[in-house]
Amino acid sequence: RTQVAVLPVVVHVVHNPAAPVQNIGDEQIRSQIEVLNRDFRAANPDVVKVPPVWRHLVADTMIEFRLADVDPAGAPTSGIVRTETSRREFTWDDAVKSGATGGADPWPADQYLNVWVCQLGGGLLGYAQFPGGPPHTDGVVILHSAFGTVGTATPPFDGGRTATHEIGHWLDLYHIWGDDDGACTSDDKVADTPNQARENLGSPTFPRITCDNGPNGDMFMNYMDYTDDAAMYMFTRGQATRMNACLEGTRASFLV
Ligand code: ARG
Ligand code: ZN
Ligand code: CA
Repeated sequence: RTQVAVLPVVVHVVHNPAAPVQNIGDEQIRSQIEVLNRDFRAANPDVVKVPPVWRHLVADTMIEFRLADVDPAGAPTSGIVRTETSRREFTWDDAVKSGATGGADPWPADQYLNVWVCQLGGGLLGYAQFPGGPPHTDGVVILHSAFGTVGTATPPFDGGRTATHEIGHWLDLYHIWGDDDGACTSDDKVADTPNQARENLGSPTFPRITCDNGPNGDMFMNYMDYTDDAAMYMFTRGQATRMNACLEGTRASFLV
């Protein structure tokens, strides 16, 4: 593809009126869209921190995001839907994705990237559904205080990178460590990301060697690791290829 793919986004803000902070403002939502458009185009200012040995792997995915301007009925929209709930918080069980369970129904998942923003329990920052799953639960869910860069966004997850990470999953990326809990036997099915033992947290120092991956070690600054927002700043070419294969395959309805 030589043309940038622009994906329409609908943000469902599901909030309890007894906790007004959950009803995040439009500015916070716009700050998140800006982060996505920087991160997916390798236009994020912190990309300069990528270690020189990996600079050639930094990828512009050619994917951008825009708040939807037409709703499913064809009417103009801001791309932001606010829904009141009586629930105190949600979790990974998808209840936030349906009006029947206190959440908000998705817009057609073959035409919109559905993003639900709400209070999440248990320290969960967000979660995503991989391509190929049921349409009525397709999309990503993000904790309001890990969404965007202003308003309720709270350090160390106030850089908008939770959505970058979860949309990576939505476009078929696996965790960079292969989810094998230190076994070094499975990886992320991407050739140019080093095999690494397990997730990294916080802000590690380069190089961090695991799974015999020296001298450069883990690519802990990759969006698909678990480091702090300020410590992650790249997708690789291999990851960009995988996301674009998803856009040309399972999610091809977005390219028309
Ligand atoms: N699903 C992950 C979690 O809830 C998201 C981690 C995102 N990492 C970040 N630095 N924002 O822990
Ligand atoms: Zn993840
Ligand atoms: Ca890899």
